[in-house]
Amino acid sequence: MEKLLIEGGNTLRGQVRVSGAKNSAVALLPATILANGPVTIEGLPNISDIQILKDLLEEIGGKTSQTGQDVTIDPSTMVSMPLPNGKVKKLRASYYFMGAMLGRFKKAVIGLPGGCNLGPRPIDQHIKGFEALGAKVTNEQGAVYLRADELVGARIYLDVVSVGATINIMLAAVRAKGKTIIENAAKEPEIIDVATLLTSMGAKIKGAGTDVIRIEGVDTLNGCQHTIIPDRIEAGTYTIIAAAKGEEVLIDNVIPTHLESLIAKLREMGVIIETKDDQMLVKGNCKMKSVDIKTLVYPGFPTDLQQPFTTLLTKAEGTGIITDTIYQARFKHIDELRRMNAEIKVEGSSAVISGPVTLEGAKVKASDLRAGAALVAAGLIADGVTEIIGVDHIDRGYEDLTAKLESIGAKIWRETMTEEEIEQFQNS
Ligand code: EPU
Repeated sequence: MEKLLIEGGNTLRGQVRVSGAKNSAVALLPATILANGPVTIEGLPNISDIQILKDLLEEIGGKTSQTGQDVTIDPSTMVSMPLPNGKVKKLRASYYFMGAMLGRFKKAVIGLPGGCNLGPRPIDQHIKGFEALGAKVTNEQGAVYLRADELVGARIYLDVVSVGATINIMLAAVRAKGKTIIENAAKEPEIIDVATLLTSMGAKIKGAGTDVIRIEGVDTLNGCQHTIIPDRIEAGTYTIIAAAKGEEVLIDNVIPTHLESLIAKLREMGVIIETKDDQMLVKGNCKMKSVDIKTLVYPGFPTDLQQPFTTLLTKAEGTGIITDTIYQARFKHIDELRRMNAEIKVEGSSAVISGPVTLEGAKVKASDLRAGAALVAAGLIADGVTEIIGVDHIDRGYEDLTAKLESIGAKIWRETMTEEEIEQFQNS
């Protein structure tokens, strides 16, 4: 087990290349189950969640091969093997095996998903969608059992705008008989990316990226090639880091329109951002003004960036309020930031951040992926050395974080934890 160490204070300059989108990748891989021939996905990020999903695809009989960042999956030999336990519980996105296996085999058994602990994360809307398509869904001993004689298209109104439910219903509906309409669908770029892959496989999908998606089911889906979109959350994290400690940092391989809400807020704070086709130049500002943030579904401010943004607000002049309307308890990073001298109060689903303060290096724990990103950002701007444990969480979503930050001038390295440290960590 490793810990991450950061000696703060270095000014960052240079270029960071963004990897393929984690939250697309974790849906694109299960989506390959639906094809009848090899599917190649180009530009997958090298993160632990992807390795787990590849292992799961092999567990059900798929053949995978990899050349650099490009992965080919041959799903033709897959079987509808139950996955009630094991790796399936390690990440939340394993729920996409439900929609994909239901679509292809008309049955699936999938252990209830794990993933970051951000408070309650129900999957009732996924289940509502599968049932509307004709599946019988039961919950037995921590696993979801899905079975359908046939899937028949339906009109499904989502009571909550959900990325996962929208994608999962799409995965099942592309192989249902007739037309499915998903109303109040989520509009995140990752949904368009999955719809693009499915369309390349031969699916008939209209409206992905709007709140009404229309799908005409087909009998077979073929193999294809697909290039993943860049990770807007990784790009946003480096943009925030650059705003906090950068002189001039060029974020490369980004779709700036995916980050409009973040860019608008940073500009309000006084950060200079120049956008080009697939690049953003970020010029840090040591005299930032505080702003308020409310997380919303896309194209609103992403919940996945609220935690690193909290760190940035500790450097800004005034009081900033962050309200998370998606995950109202996504504040586990706050206690750790307080250990580093941040002045933050949590009131209900809001965090009130007073600044500017000088953060001080401390021993802190990443309790989830984006909390980890918030602590890395904090370590980079703090005086002294910050030691972050819980690095596994960070490795789930940030490819080569250490190397990427080192390349722009950060002093960041990993060390193996001693047995005593591991014991303390496990008991904390
Ligand atoms: N919700 C329900 N019922 C459902 C589904 C969702 O009540 O059946 C609620 C959730 O509790 C939450 C809201 O709806 O309050 C939105 O949840 P959503 O389903 O959109 O989240 P998700 O699909 O489980 C994805 C990302 C998250 C990201 C959210 C919101 C993946 C694998 N995960 O989760 O990413 O925070 O969308 O944008 O795509 C991360 O990358 O750090 C991460 C947690």
